[in-house]
Amino acid sequence: MYCYGTVTPDLFWLGDSDRRLALFENAYPIPRGVSYNAYLVMDEKTILMDTVDRSVGEQFFENLEACLKGRNLDYVVINHMEPDHCATLIDVILRYPGVTVVGNAKTMTMIDQFFDFDMTGQSLIVKEGDTLCTGRHTFTFAMAPMVHWPEAMVTYDMSDKVLFSADAFGTFGALSGNLFADQMDFEHDWLSDARRYYTNIVGKYGPQVQALLKKAANLDIQYICPLHGPIWRENVEWYIDKYQKWSTYTPEVKSVLVIYGSVYGHTENAALVLAGALSRRGVTNIAVHDASVTHLSELVSLCFQYSHIVLASATYNNGIFTPMETLLSDMKAHNVQNRTVAIIENGSWAPQAAKLMRAELEHMKNIRLLEQSVTLKSSVKEAQRVALEELADALVADLQG
Ligand code: FEO
Repeated sequence: MYCYGTVTPDLFWLGDSDRRLALFENAYPIPRGVSYNAYLVMDEKTILMDTVDRSVGEQFFENLEACLKGRNLDYVVINHMEPDHCATLIDVILRYPGVTVVGNAKTMTMIDQFFDFDMTGQSLIVKEGDTLCTGRHTFTFAMAPMVHWPEAMVTYDMSDKVLFSADAFGTFGALSGNLFADQMDFEHDWLSDARRYYTNIVGKYGPQVQALLKKAANLDIQYICPLHGPIWRENVEWYIDKYQKWSTYTPEVKSVLVIYGSVYGHTENAALVLAGALSRRGVTNIAVHDASVTHLSELVSLCFQYSHIVLASATYNNGIFTPMETLLSDMKAHNVQNRTVAIIENGSWAPQAAKLMRAELEHMKNIRLLEQSVTLKSSVKEAQRVALEELADALVADLQG
């Protein structure tokens, strides 16, 4: 049975959520599921904004058919050609043979790459600033390269001030009846997943997100309709401000994130001794995570959130303990920058981790390494306890500075 939702009197949400998928992009755990949103505007001409992932295709087509109420589909706009949104594009074309596919030149190339379908006479190529009128509504298109693929674009409904934002402003998490962010406790229940989605999916492309935000700043936006997660119609500025911070690699929390890679618990002990010392000095909102336990996507998200990061690692096979090595590689891949970092190492006979972690961090942009570091030889002894207290002093001084 169909279950589409109403956004405005002639704008409808046709999406559905996948609560079974374990890993988004076969990489990121989504215990709260994910929604795939598509939207239909019923005007003199009907216009569909994007399609959906194959996993929710059946529901999507029921919704589309019910919403169209026997009318034909005139346009389908492809804001983003990634298969989580376009796997069902060909099925749309086959079900609605007269439909015109709207996208930019790169979109059309990708359609050819993904599908074997001759779209001659059935496509409309748009570029920056082009408009498309469907009757009461006029839509304009803005390119958003690398948010999150090179062909990505956004569509703005100039009549009702609706931004169809593609992956931008999306989040992990299934929708449960409520469509709008103001119908949920977004900050409490969704923000962490929104940050994890942003940082892991487009975190690398801060300058490109900035370019899109500059374009958006010139628009009067009453609604943001992303391809994942809830729709925004209130407090839009609050969410845009989050994007400002994330895309400029500006920390949200001035505090210390401690991540440790520990084989037998002694490096973990050092991390906790440090966290206790920081707390005694008045630092609040300290976070401590085990790199072997907390998923990499969460750690990357936390690195975007916190101003100060302490990395504590055992030496392993004469290198960095593998989970910490993987984290460093992912921090680099996602362009983590503008952070102050301190290092703790452990090694029972030849500690190497600090030197190697420093070398990795030096390849990242604007990472300020605290000179103060702590070396353990197997476990925390009195000398290391004192050194950890001194490291806490250095971190507090830096936080206050
Ligand atoms: Fe939701 Fe980049 O696809």
